Amino acid sequence: PISPTHWPYPLWIAHRGGGTLAPENTLAAFVIGHQHGFRMAEFDVKLSADNIALLLHDDDLPRTAGRNGIAKEMSAAELTAVDVSVGHPPFAGTTIPTLAHIADFCLSHGMAANIEIKPCIGRDAETAELVGAAANQLWQDAALPPLFSSFSTVALAALQAAFPHSRRGLLIEEWPADHESLLAQLQTLDCMALHVPDSGTDAERIAFFQAAGYAVLVWTVNDMARAQQLIDWGVNGVITDAVDRVFSAQP
Ligand code: G3P
Ligand code: MG
Repeated sequence: PISPTHWPYPLWIAHRGGGTLAPENTLAAFVIGHQHGFRMAEFDVKLSADNIALLLHDDDLPRTAGRNGIAKEMSAAELTAVDVSVGHPPFAGTTIPTLAHIADFCLSHGMAANIEIKPCIGRDAETAELVGAAANQLWQDAALPPLFSSFSTVALAALQAAFPHSRRGLLIEEWPADHESLLAQLQTLDCMALHVPDSGTDAERIAFFQAAGYAVLVWTVNDMARAQQLIDWGVNGVITDAVDRVFSAQP
């Protein structure tokens, strides 16, 4: 196991590839993240109707594509033709990438991957198994294997059963009152990381889970003073949308 004190992943992680500077979870986002100095990105992965792993946060299309469509009812050919540039006119024509497409970019540009398994409703286990299988193949020669994460404990359990050596992080929406039940979940799922919301994260909570052997990554931190506080407390990862404000000496 990897201890939080020997955590091999970069500290700074671009949320959805490139934060809010480009359409989320697209190749354009990864290009922007990389150009701004990021060497790790978090991104959301789910399955098309024909079981191809691709990058999409929502279960449907209106927010990012401005049209109707249910991801789990659409083929990969249909989904990868969808323009998801809503809110980003300069990026008109930017489409949904497959996991394979993004793996190519990450591997050729030294970008580490935090693959958030984001199953469509009811597809938790199969999404984890198929995304895990695809990622294992795509990253088979990588020096740094992907770090998987999910809010879905069903998905993480399925990933664990299919690929015990996969690197898993448990995402939580909010801090529970009781640390012990969260610790038990991390142990049961044999995770190496806990991915926590910024709100409620403090030095004591970070220290507790790191002392138990788990890396602590925080999302989504867009205030640089807050990020520095978290770093001073020793967090292992800061997931941010503020991609243009982190390495400000770089483009
Ligand atoms: O993985 C951290 C973060 O991305 C979780 O929330 O909704 O942005 O995928 P969400
Ligand atoms: Mg995410």
